[in-house]
Amino acid sequence: MRLSQFGGTVAAFAVVLGFGLAASEPGAQDFGDTPYVQTPANVVKAMLDTAKVGPKDFVIDLGSGDGRMVITAAKEYGARGFGVDHDVRLVRLANENAAKAGVADRAVFYARDLYKTDVHRASVMSIYLLPEVNLMVRPKLFRELRPGTRVVSHDYDMGEWKPDAQFTLDAPGKPVGRDPVSKVYYWIVPANVTGDWVVHVRSGAKPQEFSLKLAQKFQFAEGSAEAAGTRVELENVKLDGPRLSFKARLPDAAGQVVMHEFTGRVAGDTIEGTFKTDPAARAMSWRARRVGGKVAIGPEIDPKLAELKAGSGVQ
Ligand SMILES: C[S@@+](CC[C@H](N)C(=O)[O-])C[C@H]1O[C@@H](n2cnc3c(N)ncnc32)[C@H](O)[C@@H]1O
Repeated sequence: MRLSQFGGTVAAFAVVLGFGLAASEPGAQDFGDTPYVQTPANVVKAMLDTAKVGPKDFVIDLGSGDGRMVITAAKEYGARGFGVDHDVRLVRLANENAAKAGVADRAVFYARDLYKTDVHRASVMSIYLLPEVNLMVRPKLFRELRPGTRVVSHDYDMGEWKPDAQFTLDAPGKPVGRDPVSKVYYWIVPANVTGDWVVHVRSGAKPQEFSLKLAQKFQFAEGSAEAAGTRVELENVKLDGPRLSFKARLPDAAGQVVMHEFTGRVAGDTIEGTFKTDPAARAMSWRARRVGGKVAIGPEIDPKLAELKAGSGVQ
């Protein structure tokens, strides 16, 4: 078991709970084997509050333990969802806990490997896994989760995918770690806007066209626009889930170069939205189509995962 990252007290804790974890030195064969440790109740709520969970949400907890995350989301926030755990005894316990809490119809638990779990339905995803597991799961999240899905993690980050928010809080009763404190990390899955786009705008009678080139590292994007042979850098590029906004100095319908403020919603290879050239003016519509150059928004293997693997002896 790789227990050191959970503070070294987990083995005793797990044995008390009767889930049969045995302490031994970390080893290559145990790399990524997350032990069972409960998230304290106040941290569960802090995570659900941070993700602004509500009745419209579908919460998936990867490695669900006794079910507390999805059960609390259902009972106290009106959400629905499921959890998966590879320990069938924990899955049985979680389903019993859901029944006791009166939410068995909205919080369901399955005996399943988290890597083989289809997570595309999630609007909120929660995890309390080891640092290397977060990094091994990360590519799956980008493949399956829709842009805008909120991800919360207890104690561990996602390497180069910097959190959109993070904080530390007291965690009374936390069974692991030297101090009873927890960290919460929060991300919003960004849309992939990388590549070359052709933009159509309609301002005045004459439709106009220009091109956009966007590069991105996770939720941080930058790029340029080219209109009538002139290239300008985009300013204030912001990506918030599927929502993209930026400013660019471009020619208007009369040929005057003015600041345009664009906002739009990304759906696959199209973006649709509105823009203004003057805050007081009426918003006009724009539409973009990706014509090529799409690439991954981050590396498949985070440098930190390579370091963790090297430290554990895994090749
Ligand atoms: C640290 S506990 C977190 C439990 C619960 N989510 C909570 O926050 O209280 C991690 C859980 O992940 C489960 N787990 C570890 N690896 C898994 C895998 N590959 N597939 C499914 N569950 C896994 C463990 O059995 C354990 O219950």
